[in-house]
Amino acid sequence: MRHFLTIKDFTKDELLEMISLAQKIKVQTKKKEFVPYLEHQTLGMIFEKSSTRTRVSFETGIYQLGGVGLFLSNNDIQLGRGEPMKDTARVISRMVDMVMIRTFEQSRLDEFSRYSRVPVINGLSNEYHPVQIMTDYFTMLELGINNPVVSYIGDGNNIAHSWLMLASKLGLEIRIATPKGYECDQAIINDALNFAKESGAKILISNDPTEAVSGADVVITDTWISMGQESEKDSKIKAFNGYKVDEEMMSLANKSAVFMHCLPAYRGYEVSEETFEKHEEVVFLEAENRLHMQKGIMVWLDNHRDSK
Ligand code: CP
Ligand code: NVA
Repeated sequence: MRHFLTIKDFTKDELLEMISLAQKIKVQTKKKEFVPYLEHQTLGMIFEKSSTRTRVSFETGIYQLGGVGLFLSNNDIQLGRGEPMKDTARVISRMVDMVMIRTFEQSRLDEFSRYSRVPVINGLSNEYHPVQIMTDYFTMLELGINNPVVSYIGDGNNIAHSWLMLASKLGLEIRIATPKGYECDQAIINDALNFAKESGAKILISNDPTEAVSGADVVITDTWISMGQESEKDSKIKAFNGYKVDEEMMSLANKSAVFMHCLPAYRGYEVSEETFEKHEEVVFLEAENRLHMQKGIMVWLDNHRDSK
């Protein structure tokens, strides 16, 4: 049995298999062919943080695959009152067929998955957001952007980390610019550099957005204040001066470069209103594709159960 906790755990071929499954399922869905790949299965969805896209896409996705989603927020289940993760895992995984968790430390996902009888999917942790980054790449392929030079400008957060993992597994060029003091985790950078030796990926880690964005095919940013960091807002806004993706920054990228954002977006901070609205078609396609990419991941995990 496999869990989808980080992109690090998968080979290039496995990641591409999930993407092709998602592509096939998207075509079927658009034709209103709802193939019941996960008929009668239940997806438990544990949320320790807020969500719009992750909740709606997983719940709709499992329904379209013939199953049902259970929304389990911290306010509703005993986990929020201190029941241990390992007990929660042993109970829920006897009743449902797959679990998605959005939480704080990645170690909480690791603990749940150690005790789980069913596949577990990371729906965002402090360290990683792998389903989002798979979706970003799925969207690039759909737009005909092959072998992109990807620039990420902003906080060295879960989005940046998952991009490092995907690019280094697939052999893409990734350039990350963060302010000093807000760099990506060094252990994650080291993992990416190691994977890059095998895949041929090119990785640039910088404190200079201009260097990172020059010649990019895709420019990505994310909120400067991730969930749980609200108290750092004032200091972060000061530190991120010069990191807003606006038309001036986009003019340094390739002429046909697209802008992507996992959302929610905070205009006037990490992106200007003008740049966001200019690229809204791509950004909202990226949001829609969460639905399709995650169906590919769920079906792939189901196909890799020990019993199959
Ligand atoms: N991008 C993303 O994961 O959005 P939500 O926080 O709304 O789920
Ligand atoms: N980095 C953001 C992503 C939100 C989808 C956060 O963790 O809040």
